Amino acid sequence: MPHLAPVTPATIEAALAVRVRPDQEHAVSPVATSLAEAYVHPEAWPRLIMDGDRVVGFLMAFFDIDWTGDGTDFRSGLWRLNIDAGAQGRGYGRFAVTATGEELRRRGKNLLTTTWHPGPDGLGAFYRRLGFLPTGETSGGQTVGTLDLG
Ligand SMILES: CC(C)(COP(=O)(O)OP(=O)(O)OC[C@H]1O[C@@H](n2cnc3c(N)ncnc32)[C@H](O)[C@@H]1OP(=O)(O)O)[C@@H](O)C(=O)NCCC(=O)NCCS
Repeated sequence: MPHLAPVTPATIEAALAVRVRPDQEHAVSPVATSLAEAYVHPEAWPRLIMDGDRVVGFLMAFFDIDWTGDGTDFRSGLWRLNIDAGAQGRGYGRFAVTATGEELRRRGKNLLTTTWHPGPDGLGAFYRRLGFLPTGETSGGQTVGTLDLG
């Protein structure tokens, strides 16, 4: 059963070694970029996706980001998701979304927001399969979608 773990001095090298497939690199920032952003954004929650003691991916959630920048709309959700090329297709992406939803629920949230590149090479099909619905908004050219956590 996979689990989430914080990035620590013991795991930082393995975290930086997570690589998506070369043809996916345009769709998601490398882990190093996400960790740099986490350093300056207190809303960021970076976590390793582990299977036993093996790092199979990386996610970065966010909690209570000021979405519109005017203090009226705070959202929480999934900012980044990188499953290692050699570990894709084994349910780790689905687990990452479920685990992020559980963390949001623990923090009293009932909606998980994410974004994806529009178009056939984007991840709309993946997120829809997991129950996300587009909100009709875009953010930085990406489609915004939400998952109702009940
Ligand atoms: C997209 C990604 C997160 C999926 O992770 P994964 O571990 O391979 O996916 P899973 O094995 O958990 O698949 C879960 C379900 O989604 C489906 N799925 C996986 N990738 C899909 C895709 N690209 N399009 C449509 N469906 C997809 C699977 O068939 C599976 O369906 P099922 O359980 O009903 O059979 C992973 O491929 C990845 O890291 N891609 C590159 C980075 C990226 O683009 N990140 C998102 C931008 S932030």
